[in-house]
Amino acid sequence: MTVPLKHSDSITVDVALGERAYDIVIGRGVLASLGQRVAALRPGVRTAIVTDRTVAKHWLAPAEASLAAAGIPATAVVVEEGEGSKSYAGLEKVSEALIAAKIERNDLVIALGGGVVGDLAGFAAAILRRGVDFVQVPTSLLAQVDSSVGGKTGINSPQGKNLLGAFHQPVLVIADTAALDTLSPRQFRAGYAEVAKYGLLGDAAFFSWLESNHADLFKGGAAREHAIATSCRAKAAIVARDERETGDRALLNLGHTFGHALEAATGFSDRLFHGEGVAVGMVLAAQFSAELGMLPESDVARIIHHLAQVGLPTHLQDIAGFAQEGLGDADALLARMAQDKKVKRGKLTFILMEAIGRAVIANDVDPARVRDFLQVRLARRS
Ligand SMILES: NC(=O)c1ccc[n+]([C@@H]2O[C@H](COP(=O)([O-])OP(=O)(O)OC[C@H]3O[C@@H](n4cnc5c(N)ncnc54)[C@H](O)[C@@H]3O)[C@@H](O)[C@H]2O)c1
Ligand SMILES: [Zn+2]
Repeated sequence: MTVPLKHSDSITVDVALGERAYDIVIGRGVLASLGQRVAALRPGVRTAIVTDRTVAKHWLAPAEASLAAAGIPATAVVVEEGEGSKSYAGLEKVSEALIAAKIERNDLVIALGGGVVGDLAGFAAAILRRGVDFVQVPTSLLAQVDSSVGGKTGINSPQGKNLLGAFHQPVLVIADTAALDTLSPRQFRAGYAEVAKYGLLGDAAFFSWLESNHADLFKGGAAREHAIATSCRAKAAIVARDERETGDRALLNLGHTFGHALEAATGFSDRLFHGEGVAVGMVLAAQFSAELGMLPESDVARIIHHLAQVGLPTHLQDIAGFAQEGLGDADALLARMAQDKKVKRGKLTFILMEAIGRAVIANDVDPARVRDFLQVRLARRS
């Protein structure tokens, strides 16, 4: 059954994963087509919508209305907002609610929210009855360009982030760009760091385009859909080449080894959102690449200029509370990087840059060199 859709101006990006292939539908207002699309994909299913309290306030009713209009039963499962829900307790709550809602093997879980809800609901779907399909309806910019695509799902352990999880690809992604209108400006900016990342790691023309068009993207103009679609295409291409991160997919970690250490040093608190850590981390990766003689200083300056222009932090000193609480010393940061899962036999894996638009995987970075590099930067007061 193909139902005519009201929103003909949406962009569809195909994630080419053979029998696990799926579409990402991007556009202003596409949430209204959720019910029709689900009905076309899985006639007769029951659904459960997993969301968080904040997202529920704005977007649960339209999602439910769309499903109801297509005759699809939906049970809402609402968790607390924030990273804390990506926990054993959060998983238990969602899993039990899915069982109570009688979500069977052929039904669908719908993740409506940011990366927290996507990771949590996706993982719950992956283990419910040994695997139930799920649909991603990402509502944060970070989720629309990154976490909803690629099939990584999971929760945190008290011992570290994302230590428990599964690869479980969604069967459909619906990215309604209007949802971003209710996102806080700071969350939007943090997600933008991941958009800029795609330019920096593999698409110089996209980075230049962002330098000229970022204002329209932030305002919600057509640049927003274009940027999200370009980001999704970039991620989809990498995931299609390397679904389980044995090679190329690591490029997506540009800025993340430094970024994760900074997130850990600030206790995964509101001092530093993930995307903000990535912004500072990308600058550090660029500066470190320049120090190794791989990247021209002029490119480093361009990266800093652009990220700062949209209001993202670019230096350690920009991180809230740096002057009062600091970030620990270079050894502590290095230890946090070594705990990161991207470590193999004492050598650190970094994603470095040879140019804007050309990132490379460096598997044998000497920790002592990183330590010296960080020490110099931590010693600066402003
Ligand atoms: N699976 C992956 O490949 C992958 C990739 C990157 C990040 N992640 C994970 O994603 C998570 C971060 O995602 P996030 O930044 O979206 O965080 P999030 O899900 O916590 O969302 C951020 C905040 O924005 C709110 N929010 C979301 N959409 C909104 C909207 N439309 N209007 C108003 N408020 C809205 C949420 O309630 C929350 O308070 C982390 O747990 C990270 O580990 C996963
Ligand atoms: Zn990220």
